[in-house]
Amino acid sequence: MAEMDGWLMAALSPLTKPIVSLPCPFLAWCPQLPLSNLGGPCMAERDPSDSLTPDWAASRKLRAREIRRRIVANVANKTTDMADGPLPLHKSVYIDEARFQAEREHLFLGQPLVAGLTGDIPEPGDYLVFDAAGPSILVIRGKDGVVRAFRNLCTHRGAKLVEQAEPFTGKASRISCPFHAWTFDNLGKLVGQPGKAGFADCEIGARDLLELPCTEHLGLIFVRASEGEPIDAAAHLGDFADQLALIELHRAVPVKKGILHAESNWKFALDTYGEGYHFAALHASTIGQTHYNDISVLERFGCHHRISFPDKTVGDLVGRDEAEWPDTEYGGVHYLFPNTVIFFGAVTPGVYFTQVFRLFPDGVGKTRCQFGVYAPFGIIDEAYRGVCEMAYDATAEVVQTEDYRVASHGYANLKTAPEDFHVVLGANESAPQAVHQHIAEAIGMPI
Ligand code: FES
Ligand SMILES: [Fe+2]
Repeated sequence: MAEMDGWLMAALSPLTKPIVSLPCPFLAWCPQLPLSNLGGPCMAERDPSDSLTPDWAASRKLRAREIRRRIVANVANKTTDMADGPLPLHKSVYIDEARFQAEREHLFLGQPLVAGLTGDIPEPGDYLVFDAAGPSILVIRGKDGVVRAFRNLCTHRGAKLVEQAEPFTGKASRISCPFHAWTFDNLGKLVGQPGKAGFADCEIGARDLLELPCTEHLGLIFVRASEGEPIDAAAHLGDFADQLALIELHRAVPVKKGILHAESNWKFALDTYGEGYHFAALHASTIGQTHYNDISVLERFGCHHRISFPDKTVGDLVGRDEAEWPDTEYGGVHYLFPNTVIFFGAVTPGVYFTQVFRLFPDGVGKTRCQFGVYAPFGIIDEAYRGVCEMAYDATAEVVQTEDYRVASHGYANLKTAPEDFHVVLGANESAPQAVHQHIAEAIGMPI
């Protein structure tokens, strides 16, 4: 139980009642979780019949040990990974409409975005709605097993083919328009056209669905919400790919999804995922009890990063020979530029959650977070499913009522703050600093 960078590791021992501590803002105080039912074998073990599959469980343990050395050092020195200095941000970074439009164009329409995980649409014919980036998009696994993205737009007169909103998923070999019943297969081809004679020799040609760039890589489905070049996911991830491979997202099975809302600029909400400086104050009754305040280990991988926040049992390791340290569970918060945060960690040894947060603007002052909890290696039984569902509920409650509450009030304040007002991100808030710098670079507007 001494593992600190496993953010979901239960902090059971210091407390008299069972809890699971989720990392902030994934943190949740959840006294009802039946963790005692969740022992058993590590679900991360590989299939022994597949000698080509890397032993990711072993790789995670090695990686976790490397990270833990840095965490213990920070705890011992009562320090955190720091940036070069504080970063002032003029309030316009959050409230300026022109800046927001640049973000929409260059980030939400211009960047590859995570539309879902492989496990959201595992079988041919499975599809999901991805409508948070701007246009409504259908992401469909074709009968050939390939995932493609299409505008959710009928090529007859533009009706929406699937009228449900994200996070809706469905399954169909063909999708029929609700307006006049034009029908498309799961490769996007127009295969049914009532009154076909009326459209003979149409001068604008074939009326297949409008395809958007889409690729599937490491269990992530990336979509760009505007037409253009194919997505090079390997180039987009760079050396962050090795970190993501460790958490085996291709095996994750969705358990519960929903939407969180903030009356805030999306970046104000996103900032709350990147520092542990607010644990003691904002999360005094939850993660502030179980985790160190303002101590973290940050690893940057281009515009992406990974963070670990220690729980307080790590203090027991300070001054002890490393050979005496207990076995290590991997865990951490993985940020994918520009808007996705993936937490992976164990709530009790060998029992993991994956939590995926995708933040989107609904205008300059509104945030919509698509939040999902996944069973990283499948749903082994109903007890485990129940724990995953409770993890969703507890995490959503904390994020919505604590982190997004602060974001909403703060955003309202910034709108009425003096013209020259700057917020300031401390050197100890190094991950949010990096996020803002990369966003500014991508939109071509300095901060
Ligand atoms: S708009 Fe879809 S069939 Fe007419
Ligand atoms: Fe938080």
